[in-house]
Amino acid sequence: MTNTVAVVFTPSGLRGEFALGTPLLEAARQLGVDIDSVCGGRGLCGRCQILCTTGSFPKHGIESRANHLSSFSITEKRFSERKTPLINGRRLSCHTLIEGPLVIDVPAESQVHRQVIRKAAETRDIALDPDIHLYYIEIAPDDMENGKSELARVLEALEHDWQIRDLRVDSSICLTIAEHLRRGNRTLTTAVWSDNQQPAQLIATWPGLLEDIYGLAIDVGSTTIALHLTNLHTGEVTASTGCMNPQIRFGEDLMSRVSYVMMQPEGAADMTRVVREAINKLINEAVAEVGISSQQIVSMVIAGNTIMHHLLLGYDAAPLGVAPFTLATAEPINMPARDIGLAINPGGRMYIPPCIAGHVGADTTSVILSEQPYQGDAISLIIDIGTNAEIVLGNATKLLACSSPTGPAFEGAQISCGQRAAPGAIERVRIDADTLHVRYKVIGSNLWSDEPGFEESIAGHGVTGVCGSGIIEAVAEMYLTGILSTDGVIGGHMMDRTPRVHAHNRTYAFLLADRESPIIVTQNDVRQIQLAKAALYAGVKLLMDRYPTDSVDEIRIAGAFGSNVDAKYAMVLGLIPDCPLDKVSSVGNAATTGARMALLSRKSRAEIENIAKQVDKIETAVAPDFQEYFITAMAIPHKTDPFQHLFKIVTRPTPASTDDSTDGQPRRRRRSKRS
Ligand code: FES
Repeated sequence: MTNTVAVVFTPSGLRGEFALGTPLLEAARQLGVDIDSVCGGRGLCGRCQILCTTGSFPKHGIESRANHLSSFSITEKRFSERKTPLINGRRLSCHTLIEGPLVIDVPAESQVHRQVIRKAAETRDIALDPDIHLYYIEIAPDDMENGKSELARVLEALEHDWQIRDLRVDSSICLTIAEHLRRGNRTLTTAVWSDNQQPAQLIATWPGLLEDIYGLAIDVGSTTIALHLTNLHTGEVTASTGCMNPQIRFGEDLMSRVSYVMMQPEGAADMTRVVREAINKLINEAVAEVGISSQQIVSMVIAGNTIMHHLLLGYDAAPLGVAPFTLATAEPINMPARDIGLAINPGGRMYIPPCIAGHVGADTTSVILSEQPYQGDAISLIIDIGTNAEIVLGNATKLLACSSPTGPAFEGAQISCGQRAAPGAIERVRIDADTLHVRYKVIGSNLWSDEPGFEESIAGHGVTGVCGSGIIEAVAEMYLTGILSTDGVIGGHMMDRTPRVHAHNRTYAFLLADRESPIIVTQNDVRQIQLAKAALYAGVKLLMDRYPTDSVDEIRIAGAFGSNVDAKYAMVLGLIPDCPLDKVSSVGNAATTGARMALLSRKSRAEIENIAKQVDKIETAVAPDFQEYFITAMAIPHKTDPFQHLFKIVTRPTPASTDDSTDGQPRRRRRSKRS
């Protein structure tokens, strides 16, 4: 038998010749095989587990057998007893020696750069590659002769055991290093941050062996804040929590918050304080749920629009209230989270992706990162609708982005019977074209209102109002059944066909639900929806015009809105442009997905920083043709766009035969004036 044998590692396919008796971890390292380790081969962490694939492999010229591995070591036995048993042939590669030719499988859990984020409908994966890694070290006892500081010894051990040199040191390290060494009996787990741009930095230590560190992906929206606690080793989200953005009490939408800052400059500090407090509260909730310490959180990525971004960071948001909407900075933010009072490990880092323009912020760049429209040739339209709509259009050739002030109507605000999506809110509406009979569904019940058992199913909450998706369907159905004209006027002539249409404050209203407190859609409600959808559509048209293109290949709707709204009704309303319906999809909370990708992958951060520089930004508020696009988009679905795909699947309503005026004034009143 020769003194060297062939070993092939899968799935990488890397192959080498090794001397008998070489530890498998060492062989893997020499070949550059991706195998994890925190303890540096001491048999403590269990991250380096491998499997021997037995059998004959003519392709490799290898006969791989289990007895070509050294026998189960005492260290492995101890690890199995102390931690998780090594079962089904698993071995610790750091304590398993090569004793013959082998094919060795490195399971996904043992790979540092394993694939963690998979988008269901797509093939792309994101490889785990966070900017913070753990390294376990053991430090010799202090002695008088040596005279070195604890920090110097730690840096020496990192260089000796892990070949990490020229480390910078976070200022928080020396506050606890001596205590951690004492409590760990001279053993320490260290966290080293390296973003591939700046020199690596020692940012945290813990006594003894620590195996799990965490990061946070946070989406600070103007209405809600969502936080996802993520294990940086596995990439898994271990807890998710959220709350209303407490800044709402200073203003419902973004511009009212900027106005608050402009009118009361001291109010900015209050808005900064409350959002930071809310994030800290969510951090406490998440760590309590998982049963870890906030000291184990070493990283966070925050997505948010530019106004949320500036208020969170304590930057002056007032310039974002007036043209030219100048940002304090559009650069990505990378700094210790403690600098803005966020309560994670004192050395923990905070990253905010770059902004693009005055009103196109880190939430949009996070959406772009998640959806990657720049990867293909299809012209994608991506919209993320909140009180502001972020709009991205383009493909690998060109990418444009803008933001449009849709206001809170799509969230049920400014609607007479509107409410947020909650049990009791009408979320689905159907109107029979012949009888004008209305049926609806409310959140909290699976039954339609005309199905047996409906009343019992809503006994806990009743029918309390109409939420965003409900008002969109109601208005769209009113249009399709001729109750509403293309100009958005509730037709008084329909009173002849249904008592549901009735005079209301000099115009008409439509009775949606005949309850103790009737749920109605007023002329003003329709106007609010028209204004919101026209703002969105005008933004889309502006981007299509600048691209330039007359059509889009696909539409992706991000956020809760996309999950709740039926694409067909969104198109009937003219909220999104015409497109084959099967090319319209909901992509969930893409901003959070993008934040999570940036949390787990340095490559993703580099990618979005590069793409953000290439996006053409359009400032809707100062674009001269925005107003013109806005006016034509007020009609349902649109004044001039033909919506050919849509009208292949829904019947275009015939124009009303009566002479209802476009302002929706009741006929009786006009007649009496003429007489
Ligand atoms: Fe830690 Fe093998 S490297 S157990």
